[in-house]
Amino acid sequence: IRVAVVFGGRSTEHGISAVSAGSVLSALDPDEFDVVPIGITREGRWVLTGGDGKSLAIEGRRLPEVTDGSGSAVVLAPDPTTRELDARDAVSGLGDIDVVFPVLHGAYGEDGTIQGLFEMAGLPYVGAGVFASAAGMDKEFTKKLAAAEGIPVGPYAVLRAGQSLSEADKERLGLPVFVKPSRAGSSMGITKVDDWSELDAAVALAREIDPKVLVEAAIIGREVECGVLEGEYGGAPEASLPAEIRVVRDHAFYDFEAKYLDDACEFDIPPQLPAHVIEKVREYACRTFTALDCAGLARVDFFVTPELDVILNEINTMPGFTPISMFPRMWAASGLEYPKLVSRLVRTALR
Ligand code: DAL
Ligand code: MG
Repeated sequence: IRVAVVFGGRSTEHGISAVSAGSVLSALDPDEFDVVPIGITREGRWVLTGGDGKSLAIEGRRLPEVTDGSGSAVVLAPDPTTRELDARDAVSGLGDIDVVFPVLHGAYGEDGTIQGLFEMAGLPYVGAGVFASAAGMDKEFTKKLAAAEGIPVGPYAVLRAGQSLSEADKERLGLPVFVKPSRAGSSMGITKVDDWSELDAAVALAREIDPKVLVEAAIIGREVECGVLEGEYGGAPEASLPAEIRVVRDHAFYDFEAKYLDDACEFDIPPQLPAHVIEKVREYACRTFTALDCAGLARVDFFVTPELDVILNEINTMPGFTPISMFPRMWAASGLEYPKLVSRLVRTALR
């Protein structure tokens, strides 16, 4: 089976995607798969990168970058004058590829755009389709679809381009709030606001990533995540054992630096919670997966309050696969080791 592993890309999560791809490339069994690593530069140019993924790691505090110079050649981009042409030519040139594993996070990778390109080209790919990717990328629509399915979500307000938070919403949400770009990942552009005087700066920061911003009431609770896989042979989706993440050092919340750079987190798989709460997390994770029409995989993130209410935070339709990422860890703890996990994902995409 010839698998194209695509990574990097035009999103703010470029570097994390490259680290995720490094792990996926290392986990794909060369006896089973013929792997073609393809990086996308921040400018949107597709490059054949070669290598087995070992170079795609965080070194010191630096994340890897896909650049034109790092690859052997620019693939199939005879006319690099437009990005669209680059991508389309690259895909139409993937003729001898059986399946694509888009290990891409964020815009132009996890939001349905590249999925649409693969659909147009008739190429099978790992993970959610166009609609679920777009809905899962956008925290507003994730909440709306999940809430319609009866999954609890916290109080929030949507600020579309140019809008600011009303006094009534300030009253309703209370302090502190989290200000987030509606479409982003890896905690980028997120600020915890403890005083309303900090709100404008937080909204401006989030708008550097997305003109649409969410202001969410801070939920006092534990961070619990759950992996979901599409059912084998078309059955119901399956949930992993959940994990609790505890930020143990010097970070206001589970932010980018705590996640990837500072080794500031500890994990419990499964969390130390009553069995019925763990079951509820797993049930809500599968129901969220289905509500958004997901395919392949997702990681669904929740808060568990001191009263043991389970509240949806967000979904990731292409969760991180870095060496410290929770999705592969939760599945390993559930009995599905990394190579088996990626093999199942690729085989599911081909079904
Ligand atoms: N968005 C990052 C990669 C994650 O959810 O793991
Ligand atoms: Mg996310």
